[in-house]
Amino acid sequence: MQSGHRHIRRININATPPNAIPCVNFKDVNSLVYEEALIRTAHHDERDALMDIWKQVFGSDDAKLFFDLYFSPQTCVVAQAVNSPAAPAAMGFVFPVGSLELPGNSVACSMIFALATLPEHRKRGYAAAIVEKLIAMGNETGRPVTVLCPSSDGVFEYYKAKTPFREMFYINTQVHQNPKCATSDSIAFPISPQEYNQHRCTLLAGKPHIKMDLRAIEYQYRICQEFGGALLKIQSKCGISLAAVEITSSDTALAKELLPCPGADTEELVAAIYKLYPKNKFITRQPAVKTDDSVNITRFGMIYSSRPELYPDLGQICLPWYGFAFD
Ligand SMILES: CC(C)(COP(=O)(O)OP(=O)(O)OC[C@H]1O[C@@H](n2cnc3c(N)ncnc32)[C@H](O)[C@@H]1OP(=O)(O)O)[C@@H](O)C(=O)NCCC(=O)NCCS
Repeated sequence: MQSGHRHIRRININATPPNAIPCVNFKDVNSLVYEEALIRTAHHDERDALMDIWKQVFGSDDAKLFFDLYFSPQTCVVAQAVNSPAAPAAMGFVFPVGSLELPGNSVACSMIFALATLPEHRKRGYAAAIVEKLIAMGNETGRPVTVLCPSSDGVFEYYKAKTPFREMFYINTQVHQNPKCATSDSIAFPISPQEYNQHRCTLLAGKPHIKMDLRAIEYQYRICQEFGGALLKIQSKCGISLAAVEITSSDTALAKELLPCPGADTEELVAAIYKLYPKNKFITRQPAVKTDDSVNITRFGMIYSSRPELYPDLGQICLPWYGFAFD
């Protein structure tokens, strides 16, 4: 790990903490004690406490969908402050998400998600220590690459300063006002996660991207539905394009992944989506092409592997595509 961890005082490794805590499971391999916290895998009965951390830190009530699909002691690491009640003070998740597809190479990868420290426990190195353990857990399951999608620019800086992650994935974000003004012969249909997955593989073939596994696509299907949208196939004269749509406010829709087929016009695709979701404003996120200076390209995802030779600097025209954020 990088020098950003130096401020963390590692008190002990795989040993009983100074004040023994009844709920600590010492069978957890790699349990580490940092400052005054034990870094360990979560317990089954901590689900509610962890959902409460989600609510407090992310300010939203929508944890259930994620916890139903992804929570288990094998996917969640917590920091438990030694001298306070046994409840976790911070958490983070790691789970298989699919593979990183590069020209001539496919590498299994894990994803880190929902890293959160309760405000009163921050700046003690808990999150950095959790990330360190999450990376190790991902590697232990045979996935040498770990990816994540920071929720803001500030969080990118956090990961750069405190963890070994580096920027890798980019998006082209566009805002479309009054899409009804554009004409479109294209038609959009809601489709199943399985069908979305098949077309996604075809549309992204040969481009650097994360090939999401079916569980990740199913999760997106459910969140799109929860936010009033759907996974869509858009049939046009050029072929089949895809969009994962959420309604983010009374007059705004977000295509959190828009994958145009070759030759498809974005405005026309948005106009097709408008027929299903008549909103005045559409925000689209789609793969970015380095040569196009006129578009709004921003960083979106990060990567770490102890084997960086697995993802050499591609000098690519097509910037690597992460896909859906899990938010
Ligand atoms: C980001 C977060 C998990 C860090 O938790 P933590 O346990 O305090 O992290 P660490 O102790 O490892 O590191 C703290 C350092 O990161 C810095 N930091 C935290 N959030 C930051 C941000 N958004 N931008 C820049 N720096 C940040 C702190 O200022 C502190 O710096 P210092 O060590 O120089 O004093 C916590 O601030 C949090 O829960 N934030 C809200 C949820 C969130 O954004 N999660 C990430 C989802 S991708």
